[in-house]
Amino acid sequence: MEALLEKYLETAEETETIKYVGRVIKVRGILIESAGPQAVIGEVCRIEVPRGKGIIQAEVVGLSGGVVQLMAYEEIEGIEIGNRVIASGDQLGVPVSPKLLGRVLDAMGRPADDKGEIESPVHYPAIASPPDPLKRRRIKERLVTGVRAIDGMLAVGRGQRMGIFAGSGVGKSTLLGMIAQNTNADVNVVALIGERGREVNEFIEESLGPEGLARSVVVVTPSNSPPLARLRGAYTATAVAEYFRDQGLDVMLIMDSVTRFARAQREIGLAIGEPPATRGYTPSMFDSMPKLLERCGTSDKGTITGFYTILVDGDDMDEPVADTVRGILDGHIILSRSLAQRYHYPAIDVLASISRLAPVVSGPVTVKVVGYIRRLMAVYAEAEDLINVGAYHAGSNPAIDEAIAKREVIEQFLIQTVEEKTAVADSLRVLGKIADMEIPEEELSRYRV
Ligand SMILES: Nc1ncnc2c1ncn2[C@@H]1O[C@H](COP(=O)(O)OP(=O)(O)O)[C@@H](O)[C@H]1O
Ligand SMILES: [Mg+2]
Repeated sequence: MEALLEKYLETAEETETIKYVGRVIKVRGILIESAGPQAVIGEVCRIEVPRGKGIIQAEVVGLSGGVVQLMAYEEIEGIEIGNRVIASGDQLGVPVSPKLLGRVLDAMGRPADDKGEIESPVHYPAIASPPDPLKRRRIKERLVTGVRAIDGMLAVGRGQRMGIFAGSGVGKSTLLGMIAQNTNADVNVVALIGERGREVNEFIEESLGPEGLARSVVVVTPSNSPPLARLRGAYTATAVAEYFRDQGLDVMLIMDSVTRFARAQREIGLAIGEPPATRGYTPSMFDSMPKLLERCGTSDKGTITGFYTILVDGDDMDEPVADTVRGILDGHIILSRSLAQRYHYPAIDVLASISRLAPVVSGPVTVKVVGYIRRLMAVYAEAEDLINVGAYHAGSNPAIDEAIAKREVIEQFLIQTVEEKTAVADSLRVLGKIADMEIPEEELSRYRV
């Protein structure tokens, strides 16, 4: 009797074990396959690697005929066939608290600086649904960036989602740093996805600086981290932003870059056998993009204003990532290499850029003034070739004459050094003057700086 009971207990124990513990059976590139444990897609598992760093955190990315497919958040050095895989029962959660301010985190929300542990009883899920569209507040207020070209010509609302499209080395990081330093958002969450280590340090130390960092949370998944880390870093940063939004705050989420996020999704998709579609991107990239970007925006409690960078090499705006992202966001800022080459910084191509909510967050006279100046710029751009070869004769077209006359002051307005910070009211006053229109005080005074 006793023996029987013992046997029964043993079986029960073993069943439990099989349920929650599996064994590595195959490692192929970034993909780890194990027999067991019982787990769902997205579940976090620990892989015990006695000959590596001890424990590797991994996530279930596929289930295929009794085989669990996993990918690690970290390097998989030392992994062996037979290593134990233990299911945690949870999806990736990010410890959140006000103590996150001033901190640098890794893809899993763990400290990546040397400022000590961040313990919190509260965890936010890294993978979450966007706010209920019916409960989202309407965007009505303007967000201050301190950058004249944006605050003046491309006003952004609190809770708006903007893309910054640019080739490499055109000044994305510098511009994002200016925005992060000057903004009147309550908190910045900065996700540096797939940047080189040197660029990460430069951004934190120079672009953000100690003051900027103090009211920021930086999530870093450098280019040498595994694709799952690059993917989840974007989600973790978004979860941190959601936490602060739930506190009723206005949050700024800066993600550099969404392209690297998309490429990480492509690497993972290809590794688990998804069919490549456009330019090797797999269907999961097209699915994951709206899931990531739509979490940003307003909720019933606060706002997340998003600035997402997209790499466009050779001005190819029809490239799949740029094309997908553009359809989701509420506007785009395009940085131009030719402006950068002329040392026109920030190299924002105003005419090619648009903020869909600018008219909503600006007063009526401001809208008129901005429209007027855009027209002046467009007239100049059209006539530029003629003007440059001396084929335009002054006096033959009043619109072109005015565009030429005001070209210099408009450029001076748009060019801004990294150290300069301009209040919105001051930017608008200058624009009013250029357009010979007076923007009434009530349109100028409504912006908190
Ligand atoms: N606002 C600016 N003022 C002066 N130089 C700038 C400015 N923005 C960018 N640059 C120059 O361009 C280089 C690349 O800028 P960066 O912001 O790193 O570009 P990206 O992030 O797009 O690769 C900088 O090292 C700097 O020399
Ligand atoms: Mg950069």
